[in-house]
Amino acid sequence: MTGTFHNSRLWLDGCLDFFHYGHSNAILQAKQLGDQLVVGVHSDEEITLHKGPPVQNLSERCLAAITCKWVNEVVPYAPYVFDLAWMRKYDCQFVVHGDDISTDAEGNDCYRHAKAANQYLEVKRTQGVSTTELLDRLLNSLPLSTYTISPSNIRTYEPLLKRFASAPNGTDPYTNIFIQSSNGPEELVSGIFSDKVKLRKSAIYLDGDWSLFTGTHMTALKACAEAFPDLPIVVGVFSDDKCSEKPVLNLLERTLNLLQCKYVSAVIIDPPSARSFDTLKYLKAKFDGLIDNFSYPKFSVKEQATFQVTLNRKPTDSFQILDKQGSDTIKQRIVSRKHEYEERQRRKLNKNGTENTTIRACVAS
Ligand code: CTP
Repeated sequence: MTGTFHNSRLWLDGCLDFFHYGHSNAILQAKQLGDQLVVGVHSDEEITLHKGPPVQNLSERCLAAITCKWVNEVVPYAPYVFDLAWMRKYDCQFVVHGDDISTDAEGNDCYRHAKAANQYLEVKRTQGVSTTELLDRLLNSLPLSTYTISPSNIRTYEPLLKRFASAPNGTDPYTNIFIQSSNGPEELVSGIFSDKVKLRKSAIYLDGDWSLFTGTHMTALKACAEAFPDLPIVVGVFSDDKCSEKPVLNLLERTLNLLQCKYVSAVIIDPPSARSFDTLKYLKAKFDGLIDNFSYPKFSVKEQATFQVTLNRKPTDSFQILDKQGSDTIKQRIVSRKHEYEERQRRKLNKNGTENTTIRACVAS
């Protein structure tokens, strides 16, 4: 079924492990189909049963969806095999999924009931990014040269960057994107800072590698937004070669992760690194007339942050995330359970073979 559904609540569910721009692109496309978007996240136990162990636990995976600007509600413990009654409980009329076939442990299509009821909508799956690919980079220490993207190459992805810069409604312009050029930062995508008359104001500036977009980053951005509720957050993302260590994600992937995050108002791609000179002074001069004043924030991140999810159909603040989810923790987790993840990779590749055969069979019939 295709089309746009006004006044609708749509449902999208998944594992959302190692949240990447394939997931956020599916979420964005779903948001553009309807009004409200509810995201269901599968439990660790169900993912282990049907697919193999997830790298991130349920609360970490929910956090990624909670901080995505196009998501209205997050529901943990969504069943892996899609259940119409469960979706209806959350007042949603359609489920949205990427155009890949998702199968359960027995090889059956997880969305067969929704398809039979005509309550299934499909969006384009994003090629070239997957949890499997990211695990491969970590498990096999793939060299950066096999996946790096330079700041000049990133310009070829302008249409994708522009879509990701959209507002929480999925369509209006919102997040500004600037990219370093020989004359200083150049506006690649216009957004809320582009109205120079209305928005001459101060901004908070945070820069970094953002190597894997983890719970630590999300919690820090939330804490920053809460500490300075009236100030927009501008984020600098270093190019692959300027990162302090080999980034797991390339410049495009790291930029898209920041763009989809609801706390980020503007992204500067490849800013000068703070180590050699006064970045704030430089930004102040270069953004003259657009942003009056930049400051590095002083705020504290609590060890435990509280995020709102929907539990038993009621919004609740009781979902707590421990601040122990930095890139190093994730990497250590993968290394310490290497064999289990290698087995998961094998299973996924075998499954892909079967799923592709199923897709070909559908096309042929
Ligand atoms: N999705 C997508 N493009 C990708 C990966 C996922 O459009 N490259 C979509 C899926 O089709 C689904 C949603 O994102 O609608 C959530 O997917 P999820 O169950 O989390 O992941 P997988 O499909 O298993 O993909 P991955 O192995 O990358 O996690």
